[in-house]
This record gives sequence, C-alpha cells and structure tokens, in this order.
Amino acid sequence: MRAVEVGHTVVGYDTNESRVKRLCAGESYVEDIASATLAAALETGRYRPTDESKACAGFDVAVITVPTPLREGSPDLSYIEASAATLARFLRPGATVILESTTYPGTTEELVAPILEAGSGLTVGTDFHLGYSPERIDPGNPTWTLVNTPKVVSGVDEASLAAVKAFYDSMLDRTVPITGTREAELTKLLENTFRHVNIALVNELAMFAADLGINVWEAIDAASTKPFGYMRFTPGPGVGGHCLPVDPSYLSWRVKRSLGQSFRFVELANEVNEHMPDYVVRRLVYALNKDRKALNGSKILLLGLAYKKNTGDARESAAIAVADRLLGLGATVHAVDPHVLAEQVDTRIRLVDLDREEVAGADAVVLLIDHDAFDLQIVETAARYVLDTRNRIQRGCFERL
Ligand SMILES: NC(=O)c1ccc[n+]([C@@H]2O[C@H](COP(=O)([O-])OP(=O)(O)OC[C@H]3O[C@@H](n4cnc5c(N)ncnc54)[C@H](O)[C@@H]3O)[C@@H](O)[C@H]2O)c1
Repeated sequence: MRAVEVGHTVVGYDTNESRVKRLCAGESYVEDIASATLAAALETGRYRPTDESKACAGFDVAVITVPTPLREGSPDLSYIEASAATLARFLRPGATVILESTTYPGTTEELVAPILEAGSGLTVGTDFHLGYSPERIDPGNPTWTLVNTPKVVSGVDEASLAAVKAFYDSMLDRTVPITGTREAELTKLLENTFRHVNIALVNELAMFAADLGINVWEAIDAASTKPFGYMRFTPGPGVGGHCLPVDPSYLSWRVKRSLGQSFRFVELANEVNEHMPDYVVRRLVYALNKDRKALNGSKILLLGLAYKKNTGDARESAAIAVADRLLGLGATVHAVDPHVLAEQVDTRIRLVDLDREEVAGADAVVLLIDHDAFDLQIVETAARYVLDTRNRIQRGCFERL
C-alpha cells in the first residue's frame, strides 16, 4: 500500500487465488490495512493484485515476503525457492530482488542467488541487484508503523545495497544500511530471540514466584521504574504468532547444522515458553481441586484466543494450546474473542459473548489475552474463580499467573 501511495506501480502477486480475489474486490484481509486504503490503492490504477505470474514481467524491484514455517523443527524454505524461481523467469539486467521473509543467515546468498542466476542466465552483482531487508511490522501497534520504524537494508555488494536502500528510502522515514545480507538476516533473528529469551525469563520467574508466594507482577512493575539497563517483559500463557515460536529455531538450526553446537539460550527459552500452556492448565487443576472439582466435566470460559492483544491472529496461539489441553482433559470449553474469526477456531470450542450469564455459568474463567474490548468488570463481579495470566483482575475471586 505504501509503495502505491508514494507513486510506484505495484503488482501484488500471490499464489492464493481466494486472497487475490478479495484484494481485487477491495476487501482487506490484513487487520492493519483498512479496506478503504486498499480501495484507494486500486483506484489509482497503479496497484494490481494477481495470481498470474506473468504479471511479474518487467519488474524493476521485486520484494519476496512469503512464509518461512518450521516443519518438524527444520526450516521450510520451499516458498522462498518457488518465488525465486518465478522471479528468475522475469529477471532483467538492472533489476533488484529483495528478500524480506525471516530466515537463517546465508539464505539470500546461498539459496536465492543461485536460483535467480540459474533461471535467468544472469549473474548476481554484475547483471542484477540482490539484498535482504527484514520486516519489522508490529501488528496492532499504533505508534510504530511501517513508515516511521527504521528499516535495516543490505545487499550482496555495494551497488545492490544502494539499490535496495534507494527503494526503501522512497517509502520510509529512515533506512539503516548494513554491509552484509547475513548480518541483516541475523539482525531479525537477534531481535526476535531477544524477546523470546526475555519472555522465557519472566515466565520461569513467575512460576517460581507463585510457588514462593511472591507477587511477580509487583516486582516487574518496580524493576520497570529503573530508567536504564532494564526492559519490561511480562509473563503469559506462552508465546504465539508466526515469529517468536519459529524464528529463534531458525538460528539454533543454523548453528547446529553449520557448527554442530546447541544454541542453549534458544533451546532453554523454547522449553520454558512451550511449557506455559501446561502450567496454566496445572494451575487450573489445582484451583478446581480446592473446590473438590475435576477439570473433566467442568465448564471453563477462556478470554482471548489470539496470540496477541487486540489482534485476531490465532496462528500458533498459546491460548489455543491451552484450549486443546483442556478439551483433551474433558472440560467443556467456551471462549470469547471478538477479533478472531470462527474459521480459525476448533469447532469443539464454543465461541460466546462476554456477558454476566456466561461468566457466572463457568466453573472457572481464564484471562489469556487482555483485549481492550473486554469488559473486565463483568468478570470481576460475576466469576466464581478467575485465573488471570495478564495481571488485569483487581477484585473478586482470582489468582494471578
Ligand atoms: N506478518 C508479520 O507481522 C511479520 C513480521 C515480521 C516478519 N514476518 C515474516 O514475513 C514472512 C511472511 O509472513 P506473513 O505473515 O506475511 O505470511 P502470510 O502467510 O500471511 O503471507 C504470505 C503470502 O505468500 C503467499 N505465497 C506463498 N508462496 C508464494 C509464491 N511462491 N509466490 C507468491 N506468493 C506466495 C501466500 O499465499 C500468502 O498469501 C515470514 O517469513 C514471516 O516470518 C512477518
């Protein structure tokens, strides 16, 4: 959208036909993009969503933003390979290709460059430019947008770096040029691993503090008043989305494969964060037990199914992991999430509205994501018991994570 806004002619090529149809109809499926913005872009006549690869012909700059999932713990780069093969057919001398997908260091030069060269008969550096620029989109963040968030840019050589930088300079407030594509690829993994490790730290701390009878949230709030050398992270039911549960493993996979060594911080953080849904369920079992109830047959109301506050993305969501475990143990699971679409949710989870009757009818309520849309007063006054994983409940019968 931004490229259209600043005057570029943009082809949005995607192999997913139904997504393309929706885009052509001016219907945005991306939460941060309003349909009105999409419609305005279509109206300029300079934006064309398509699933026909031939529309890529004649490109000056191509940006690859395809998925990079993990399959059984190993990076699946097949989408990057497929899109590089497509672009290679249309690559012309002087053009620029930029990879944005999150991936392990070395992908741009070791994987993308050879595919582009083989398919086009051209030589990287001599004939065309190639670079890497990591995404820093933070869905739902109203302060830091694509335009005002500094963007790291890199190229396989000086001319490539200049071409990549010039492209993003035409759209964004600030670019941060760095010399190598491997360093740019590592930058993204460092940023996400940093979050992942620090979240694991406070998660583990929260579990020990609960056993010690200490309020970890108060300690976190107090530590956060230190103006230097500390950064606030809060515990929760686990990490989700398409970045934190995936990206650090790209780094540990690369270290293991190239150096034969374990990236211990990443592996420890995975272990702690992946355990959190089980820990939430254990806490719930203990709470029900005090009331002489079993999870089997109890009615549990979950608040929030998305992986992140105020978004509707339930990919790899820890809340869904909690729901799965509860269902497996025989609980009846109801859930409230005004953002998540029903098609993303297991049909065994009953989606309901947050009202007094639902809250009062549940043996326990678990606050998993504190969407702004939730009226927590209802929860505080009507719930029999609340397990609060976000430190938002102030009164009534509740326990914090
Ligand atoms: N979404 C974010 O906020 C975000 C933030 C940082 C990094 N990333 C990274 O960006 C990459 C993409 O993430 P996403 O969330 O946009 O994924 P996504 O799955 O929402 O979108 C990727 C799109 O690529 C299309 N696609 C797949 N193969 C293709 C091909 N060969 N040619 C053309 N199109 C193809 C898919 O149909 C899909 O529509 C990942 O590497 C992710 O880690 C995303």
